[in-house]
Amino acid sequence: MKQDSPDSAALALDKLIRELGRVSDEKARLTRTFLSGAMGRANRLVGGWMREAGLAVRVDALGNLIGRIEARRPGAKTLVIGSHLDTVRDAGRYDGALGVLLPIVALGRLRRKDVRLPYTLEVVGFSEEEGVRFPGSYFGSKGYAGRLRAADLRLRDDRGVSVGECLREWNGRHGRRAWEAPERAHSARELLGYLEVHIEQGPVLEDRGLSCCVVSAIAGQTRARIEFLGGAGHAGTTPMALRRDALAGAAEFVLAAESLARRRAPLVATVGRLAVMPGATNVIAGAAELSLDVRHPRDRSRLDALRILRTAAERIARRRRLAVSFRVAQDNPSVACSAGLTALLAQSVRAKLGRSLRIPSGAGHDAVVLSSLTPVAMLFVRCRAGVSHHPEERVEIGDLAAALAIVEDFLVRLAHRMPK
Ligand code: GLV
Ligand code: MN
Ligand code: MN
Repeated sequence: MKQDSPDSAALALDKLIRELGRVSDEKARLTRTFLSGAMGRANRLVGGWMREAGLAVRVDALGNLIGRIEARRPGAKTLVIGSHLDTVRDAGRYDGALGVLLPIVALGRLRRKDVRLPYTLEVVGFSEEEGVRFPGSYFGSKGYAGRLRAADLRLRDDRGVSVGECLREWNGRHGRRAWEAPERAHSARELLGYLEVHIEQGPVLEDRGLSCCVVSAIAGQTRARIEFLGGAGHAGTTPMALRRDALAGAAEFVLAAESLARRRAPLVATVGRLAVMPGATNVIAGAAELSLDVRHPRDRSRLDALRILRTAAERIARRRRLAVSFRVAQDNPSVACSAGLTALLAQSVRAKLGRSLRIPSGAGHDAVVLSSLTPVAMLFVRCRAGVSHHPEERVEIGDLAAALAIVEDFLVRLAHRMPK
């Protein structure tokens, strides 16, 4: 990796993003999920780039990739910078990957310029943020921050394998001794904060004509699994009035969630998965399980919506003579970014772009979990048409160059703010 001018560094970063974007669990599209074969290959590839940039590399018991540059002064505090290396199904290349690869390129450049920072830096590629395989998410950052709970380990995937079983198997296969709940990586006292660089995943920066901006807060999010149970039966012989069709109940619930969110902007409610059993053309659905994702910048409004949707599910089930279960798999309140770190980051944005902007994030990020351990700040980078969670995700080279310059400026500003 040879990058001297900001533009050549941005081109080099883009090349790494493209190379990592080819590491997938599926042939024709980008999908990397928790502890999968592709995640192992991604850790090896990115770990190699970390070593080239001068970082010491390890993988922890959750599969998080951790690269570290020690400060010269013993006992110096640590700034953590990172994001996630897992992806959604049929993903774009930048979501998560940008926040891991950009600091590696920035640190390589600072090293070549012989800039020595007075604090330790840890770059982390978290192993799970998207919540694709299990009903919950943030397993990587939760493990790193010491926030993984027994309830998280009991969550099961579609094949009935729990998170705990999956971790035990993976750690065993990698020659680690019997796995128990992982230790958190740091105590709060050891840390200066956490910085996450991420694509905006929305259209505001494009609308304002800005490459980057700072994040004020991250919206709260609840994920639930809802199951309607009816009676499977013959599609040709069971009269309509005698059916207990679980899928029809689930369909009614999907529309109830959509209509509630439409009436209560900025509430958003999404059913993104639906599993129908037994799933045959000529059989009435006996069971239908769906996912629910509810978000709102105000916690009270999110919890209110959740209560209404739970009541709606029960009402639909009663009217249709179905049984229903409504299980919350994850509930994250909204998170405010640190005033101090964000103000410093905004100074870097202003220094490089001439103006700064603060916007809230509707998407969840590893910063949500890290905020329980240390102050967090986030830099958003413009992505074309605001498209994300889609293979068409794009970031222009000029915007990568701006983000690199801002992060390097921030690292130096943070150093100047520290007591000598
Ligand atoms: C993560 O991408 C999320 O906001 O769901
Ligand atoms: Mn992300
Ligand atoms: Mn994502």
